[in-house]
Amino acid sequence: MLRWMSTRPFAAVILAAGQGRRMKSSLPKVLHPVAQFPMIDHVLAALRPLAPMRTIMVIAPGMVPAMAARDGVEYAIQAAPRGTGDAVAAARSALQGFAGDVLILYGDTPLITTGTLETLLAARRQATAPDLVVAGMRRADPANYGRLIEQDGVLAAIVEARDCTPAQRGINFLNAGPMVVDSALLFDLLVAVGNHNAQGEYYLTAIVGLARARGLACRAVEVPADDVAGVNDRAELAAVEAAMQRRLRARLMESGVSLLAPETVFLAADTRIGPDSSIGPCVMFGPGVTIGAQVEILGFSHIAGATVGDGARIGPFARLRPGADLGAEVHIGNFVEVKNSRLVAGVKANHLAYLGDADVGARSNIGAGTITCNYDGIDKHRTIIGADVFIGTNSSLVAPIEIADGAIVAAGSTITESVPADALALGRARQTTKPGGAAAWRKRHPKKAKGQAG
Ligand code: UD1
Ligand code: CA
Repeated sequence: MLRWMSTRPFAAVILAAGQGRRMKSSLPKVLHPVAQFPMIDHVLAALRPLAPMRTIMVIAPGMVPAMAARDGVEYAIQAAPRGTGDAVAAARSALQGFAGDVLILYGDTPLITTGTLETLLAARRQATAPDLVVAGMRRADPANYGRLIEQDGVLAAIVEARDCTPAQRGINFLNAGPMVVDSALLFDLLVAVGNHNAQGEYYLTAIVGLARARGLACRAVEVPADDVAGVNDRAELAAVEAAMQRRLRARLMESGVSLLAPETVFLAADTRIGPDSSIGPCVMFGPGVTIGAQVEILGFSHIAGATVGDGARIGPFARLRPGADLGAEVHIGNFVEVKNSRLVAGVKANHLAYLGDADVGARSNIGAGTITCNYDGIDKHRTIIGADVFIGTNSSLVAPIEIADGAIVAAGSTITESVPADALALGRARQTTKPGGAAAWRKRHPKKAKGQAG
């Protein structure tokens, strides 16, 4: 019996169909990003290592176009936002024939961890397991969380903040959201849930009182409040973002990365940085960034969708956009923007440049003010630069174009024709210098020239 209990299968139901009215947004609440990824994906990431038999996400009909297919996730539609109990009931037909526990999760608690979920599942797998496990938390400010009403050490009911008596409002043992309950029992209890409450909604939380009335055992298992903060408005979204950033920074530093001013560095949930790298102040990471070891990222750089090789130096004030693929020891200096370009080992672009849709070969030097003119107003074109090329300052490379190995482009050139290997290309107007010409001009324009003479 015990052995069977310990391997008891479970399905996850994630509630994501709420309107999120307090967000005042046209974007569904659970799609608002935290650390650059939709909240709902953080919940899924915490769940995945536990390998649920099934994962059902309950969404609203209007969310269907916005919901990408997600690995292993089945969607169930809640026709109207009639409350969390009604939302769980929307997963009933998807779970027909499933025998085991259902782990119910709220899609608006992106800080949830695998460990916390494991604790809740384990509570249902003990020999003396209660019929219904509820995650509880303690907070100094109980806000609008549901109050857990305990009698003689057992959970008797959950009362929503709006339905509380003044005495109940003072309770600070709160409903964190997640629950674990046997599937058959869950759907049986939900049938009896009514909507006679302040909001006229079918509350999932009502199943606790209903279970107690049947003499079943309910237990609140306390989990860390930091793991279950809910997002209902923009202020809570910002608070959860801050907590997530603290977590990501701590993990990065633990793995051997230095952050000069951790609280000013913003990471994406998937940012990967190798050991002995260091990040300066005010650096922002978008999604899809992989940075090697011993990389120095100086302050105020903005990096998204980019790969950076070992020993590279980026910034200060650099911008790496999606598709920037930088080899080892590449140097990207201030006010240099790189997009959809491959820079192999040792390339240097140290000042004020734009490299878009370009391939740059080993050790090539891109002078200050170089621009790849990749867009003709209709299409994008590539610039191919070979190895050991020198692009002089303030050059425009009009794509499509190729500058072959060892070529030199003279400063101030506009290059519109490809340059063969080892050639010198000059694409600029020839200078004329007239001795005494400036003095003669001033003589002819005495008024205009005021103050210009010296
Ligand atoms: C809910 C709980 C409360 C708990 C808190 C924890 C209920 C009635 N109350 O309150 O006890 O302390 O979460 O964060 O459950 N949803 C649907 N369909 C609906 C309504 C909601 O799918 O019709 C989804 C939402 O998208 C959200 C989740 O359920 O992800 C919770 O709904 P929300 O309205 O945020 O509930 P709270 O008021 O926060
Ligand atoms: Ca909520």
